[in-house]
Amino acid sequence: LIGVLGGGQLGRMLALAGVPLGHDFTFVDPAPDACAAVLGRHLKADFDDPEALLELARTCEVVTFEFERVPTRAATRVGLSTLIRPGPRALEAGQDRLGEKELFESLGMEVTDYAAASAPTDLVDAIARTGLPAVVKTRTEGYDGKGQSVLRSQSDVARAEEGLAGWPLIVEAQVDFDRELSIIAARSVDGDVVCYPLIENHHHDGILRLSLAPAPNVQASVQSTAESHARSLLEHLDYVGVVAIELFQVGDRLLANEFAPRVHNSGHWTIEGAATSQFENHVRAITSVTLGPATPTAYSAMVNLIGVAPSPADALRIEGAHLHLYGKTPREGRKVGHLTLIDDSSEHLRTCLERVVGLPGTKLPEV
Ligand SMILES: Nc1ncnc2c1ncn2[C@@H]1O[C@H](COP(=O)(O)OP(=O)(O)O)[C@@H](O)[C@H]1O
Ligand SMILES: [Mg+2]
Repeated sequence: LIGVLGGGQLGRMLALAGVPLGHDFTFVDPAPDACAAVLGRHLKADFDDPEALLELARTCEVVTFEFERVPTRAATRVGLSTLIRPGPRALEAGQDRLGEKELFESLGMEVTDYAAASAPTDLVDAIARTGLPAVVKTRTEGYDGKGQSVLRSQSDVARAEEGLAGWPLIVEAQVDFDRELSIIAARSVDGDVVCYPLIENHHHDGILRLSLAPAPNVQASVQSTAESHARSLLEHLDYVGVVAIELFQVGDRLLANEFAPRVHNSGHWTIEGAATSQFENHVRAITSVTLGPATPTAYSAMVNLIGVAPSPADALRIEGAHLHLYGKTPREGRKVGHLTLIDDSSEHLRTCLERVVGLPGTKLPEV
């Protein structure tokens, strides 16, 4: 039995990969309509509810999380009486944007200039170090571009001082990147690591819209830098499971932005586009099974469906399309599903992508 803290779409896709391997799932999620619940048992409770945690520890051989804002103390408590993979240390390291940047630097990864601001009134000092434009972010709790804003002028700074009162902050020099990439890797209990190819990501309003995998035109040296970053992070955290690192590419440099100690939205293409999906590899890792190869088997484009989804009839008319609906009530800005287009030529993939334009829930950048 596998316990999962969080019962959203990532938990749902973990179960879709783990059930065929013979596992049963229990999800802890306070939402009565948690969309993973159809695939297992659902404990409707807060992530730090003592009774739910006790029940997980009592019934599960291993517990994992699919939501990174799970309180570290909840993970630590579960870990006292059963296995929790990845461990609470990895969870904690990913929760504070300042600690994350310091960790990246200590592991020899490049990051953009940054400065901590313990209160909004320190913003002026922080900006003296990063320059403008800058991005100010809450150190904790932010996701999908929430809890951050771009500062271009002194008047933005004054506005941010008001809006962010009460939050510990980090200010980052805004990176004029060529593109955004991510690397997804998995580490087994024995310390074996597999890395997926770099993925090119396009965001709109802070939310991932499109991922292309393998990312087009990646120099071998850039791929190997990303892989060595992933390996150092995994080894440093004595990590078991799947991790994702978000990177900015500037020329042939990679600046590390943040990491997620879990399966990642930019890895959904691996379900159809890689020899082993990120979900299966996560399940394999946490259940002490050998990892499967992370080799791509096709060119993939993953399009997130935000706020609303097309009908299966409309979506599946597109050649090479695979539809994943999460069973969530549509709401503005909510990820309700994704569509992966698969092709054996990257050129043809562009034509397929053109056919997605105008489908409900899709918003594609120029590619
Ligand atoms: N320092 C930065 N320079 C340029 N763009 C940034 C910077 N930080 C964040 N962004 C943009 O905002 C997006 C969301 O920020 P991120 O740090 O990944 O937070 P989260 O994904 O947790 O909301 C990034 O994918 C990127 O497009
Ligand atoms: Mg991000």
